[in-house]
Amino acid sequence: MPEKIAAGNWKMNGLSADLSELELIAAHAATSTVVICPSAALLSRAADTVSGRMSVGGQDCHGAQSGAHTGDTSATMIKDAGAAYVIVGHSERRADHGETSETVKAKAQAGLDAGLTPIVCIGETLAEREAGQTLEIVASQLSASLPDGGSVVVAYEPVWAIGTGLTATPDQIAEVHTAMRQQLADIRDDGADIPLLYGGSVKAANAAEIFAVPDVNGALVGGASLKAADFIPIIQALDVS
Ligand code: PGA
Repeated sequence: MPEKIAAGNWKMNGLSADLSELELIAAHAATSTVVICPSAALLSRAADTVSGRMSVGGQDCHGAQSGAHTGDTSATMIKDAGAAYVIVGHSERRADHGETSETVKAKAQAGLDAGLTPIVCIGETLAEREAGQTLEIVASQLSASLPDGGSVVVAYEPVWAIGTGLTATPDQIAEVHTAMRQQLADIRDDGADIPLLYGGSVKAANAAEIFAVPDVNGALVGGASLKAADFIPIIQALDVS
């Protein structure tokens, strides 16, 4: 069975004062794995704050472990800061920084090489969905972004559902997750055990419905992960799913 994971992506939010939210989340005993991905600037202090089934992750890493890349953070540095995971290929990075699936695969491999579990993000735009290309786009992003082996997590995040309040319907999520599970089973020996997260406007009010969808093993949560009061009910919904 794939592990159940509630992952929070703080994006470019969160200061020292917000570490108290992490303490509150960490104090909540969960049976699911809980991961918060704060900014690189906060990572090491965040790692010192959490314990138990909770860990922290980076939001991106470079494809190389060191070198002349001003402003970038390597997977080795993220691991050294105390992280266990790293998000790669988030649609905001693909859009803002022109990251291709080939770049994302290199970053995921760098994460694995450093001892991190990459959370590989994929998902279609609204235009692609409206053109009926969702399954094709997701399949091609998945095969091109995924490292050839190693422990990974996949997050399906329809770009049109991120930060918009628009959530994909259970049927839409089921269609994509079932297709991803089949594809993973076809291409990797561990394909049946790779956790598949849904992301895009997940909140306390819709979490249970989303976690009831077949082949959904958790969520990657943006806005609703910033406050413990919003995130803990999502963890609780996953625990009982
Ligand atoms: P959201 O973001 O929950 O705020 O929609 C999800 C994400 O980008 O991972």
